[in-house]
Amino acid sequence: MDAFSWSDDFLVGNQIIDTEHKKLVKLVNDFHNAMEQGRGNDVIGKVLNNLVIYTKEHFKHEEAEMQRIKYPKYLMHKLEHDKLIADVAQLQSSFTSGKSMLTIKISKFLQDWLVTHIMQSDKLLAAALRQN
Ligand SMILES: [Fe+2]
Repeated sequence: MDAFSWSDDFLVGNQIIDTEHKKLVKLVNDFHNAMEQGRGNDVIGKVLNNLVIYTKEHFKHEEAEMQRIKYPKYLMHKLEHDKLIADVAQLQSSFTSGKSMLTIKISKFLQDWLVTHIMQSDKLLAAALRQN
């Protein structure tokens, strides 16, 4: 069972961003499930890598939209993205260096990470996109 269910409360009202967020939720679940099922490190590493790559891609899309509309909160939002990417990269390097990781702790971390950002910063961004 997925640890992290999508909720329509997460919808920001921008179709592209919402679709990408759903995919991120799925990737967090894939990672959780691979860990929970005790998959091999090659599988878990691959899933984690997919999450890192997709996160970067998604943030780039949001940042391009922000620049397009000359979003006044661009810098603040971009800093949050940079911090989130650093957090996931840290997770990835802990994994690669063979540190033991607690599935529940990571899952919870990724969920909080994503939900807080979506509910606060991305909702503001989507509102600004609607006005432009
Ligand atoms: Fe964002």
